[in-house]
Amino acid sequence: MSTRAFVVVVALLSAVLAGTVVAGYLVWSRDDQGAAVMIGGPFELVDQTGRPVTQDSLKGKWSLIYFGYTYCPDVCPTSLSVMSQALDALDPALAAKVTPVFFTVDPERDTVEQLALYHQSFHPSFLMLTGTPEQVRAAAKAYRVYYRKAENDSATEYLMDHSSITYLMNPDGGYVTHFGHDATPEGIAETLRKLVGG
Ligand code: NI
Repeated sequence: MSTRAFVVVVALLSAVLAGTVVAGYLVWSRDDQGAAVMIGGPFELVDQTGRPVTQDSLKGKWSLIYFGYTYCPDVCPTSLSVMSQALDALDPALAAKVTPVFFTVDPERDTVEQLALYHQSFHPSFLMLTGTPEQVRAAAKAYRVYYRKAENDSATEYLMDHSSITYLMNPDGGYVTHFGHDATPEGIAETLRKLVGG
């Protein structure tokens, strides 16, 4: 092989390699965005006053979304308190741009009346949503939330296993970020100031 032919071959191989890297990156970044876009979707529920709420009802404002149940002994009340404190820590004008939303995963016990009662313990701007078991299942599926009734002998006293993640969604209903169960009011407030207030 002449030197010139060798240079051409090396150049071609380099081009193919570079192309593969670029294509790989594009596929990876599209998957990354695709995964983000997949959180959130259509649902039809009612709030603690019995008013219908859909995905479109949340548009135009940011939302902090949490799935749980009112009979939860510790994890849910802690998360809802943290969300409430984060909103209290914000300038009221900024807090008004964010709707905290609690979706039940326990529609059998979390009736509209039960949610109205539970609502009194947390930030007044909370929407607390329930529906038929099918509607609740559809909402949880839209947000990629896992839940399951824990094994128990009693029909009325049982625990629910559920994921404990707070999603921040933008005014278009798109996923922005999430907070784990260890998030603090200060940490959430700081993120909201940065993303919502910016
Ligand atoms: Ni819980």
